[in-house]
Amino acid sequence: MIEELYTSKQVELRNRARELAETVMRPVAAKYDVEQTYPWEVQHAIRDAGLSGVWIPEEYGGLGGGVLDLCMVVEEFSRACGGMGVGFAVNALGSFPILVGGTDEQKERWLPGIAAGEKLIAFGLSEKDAGSDAGSMTTRAEKEGDQYVLNGEKKWNTGGAVAAYNTIFAVTEPGRGARGVSAFVVEEGTPGYRVGKHEDKMGIRCVPVVEIHLEDCRIPADNLLGGQEGRGFKHAMITLDRARPGVAAQAVGLAQGALDLALEYTHERKQFGQSISSFQGVQWMLADMATQIEGARQLVHAAARTIDAGVKNITRMSAMCKLLATDVAMKVTTDCVQLFGGYGYCKDYPIEKYMRDAKITQIYEGTNQIQRLVIARALMREAASGS
Ligand code: CAA
Repeated sequence: MIEELYTSKQVELRNRARELAETVMRPVAAKYDVEQTYPWEVQHAIRDAGLSGVWIPEEYGGLGGGVLDLCMVVEEFSRACGGMGVGFAVNALGSFPILVGGTDEQKERWLPGIAAGEKLIAFGLSEKDAGSDAGSMTTRAEKEGDQYVLNGEKKWNTGGAVAAYNTIFAVTEPGRGARGVSAFVVEEGTPGYRVGKHEDKMGIRCVPVVEIHLEDCRIPADNLLGGQEGRGFKHAMITLDRARPGVAAQAVGLAQGALDLALEYTHERKQFGQSISSFQGVQWMLADMATQIEGARQLVHAAARTIDAGVKNITRMSAMCKLLATDVAMKVTTDCVQLFGGYGYCKDYPIEKYMRDAKITQIYEGTNQIQRLVIARALMREAASGS
């Protein structure tokens, strides 16, 4: 990162995140990867370092940072551990719908606890049969007096098992497609809200990804975000536009972390009587990887700055940075395993974890096939309108 391009506050934030990543996350990354348990000690360290609410406005107790600040922190965390990076970033994904569509009262109610690191929040959009086609969800929310009754199942709920709040999208008006979807905040402990299956995952193993069951789950009507039905899908899309650079930053962090390890290893590893980094074939791989990472980072930061500047059409930039950075992460982490040779394929070295953690970034928050669809649609729309 070229420090001169950032404010002193951002550099300080990045340094604080890096320090925490190196001293708290890296030493325990392998342990939680093996155990597949949630690292509460890490969550508490993030809270104690005052980083929990980077993206939340100061009036609700956050640091008042933008998407760029969020991305800088996520990159640093992910450089040490991709799972810990997403375990943090998912709270932005879960709380953006409140920021984007919540009333002032709802923001007052839920954001301070998240900003203080006392409450975690998840994002419940996907279902077993509604992944890429999020608008085909079937979870139902029916109004009864001053309550909504929720029934259905959510899938791929990242952080759901440890979250105090869950932003749940449900159909309030069947037959209207995306326009019949509304967003609600459901609080842990509400009768009828149940955490189900924990996925046994290839990577990001320290963060629980679970199914959420809603069985006659009654919540106050006040938990309908924005107090208006039918706006949930739009809010989900606007949220994903703001959150995808966070996934992209996770990918950049993973790629950078893997390259750091490969630089060290190729210097130390001797074959044919010399460091393998003295071979031009290896040097070219290192140079290509560094170039791809920097290109991805710059696009992520450009997308984040575009969002923070309040530009109206952010969808294309957001999808582009997610697509590029996550494909770079997969390629770079795979090439880094290659540089470690047989050792890279074994768990004695930390490098294979980077490759496993990177894979999901091409899948969640919209597969990279969906990102291409989103980009193409935006391009055609812009061409048609002459912008
Ligand atoms: N901003 C604002 N509004 C938007 C929008 C955007 N970016 N994109 C779409 N909309 C609006 C449209 O204008 C339309 O509104 P009207 O009905 O008023 O015209 C409405 O939303 C429906 O839009 P589309 O017709 O374009 O919807 P679609 O059904 O064709 O689907 C899609 C579009 C882009 C494919 C969308 O379904 C999508 O993004 N799918 C991927 C879902 C996804 O990313 N899921 C990941 C969930 S999170 C996760 O991974 C787990 C985790 O916990 C980390």
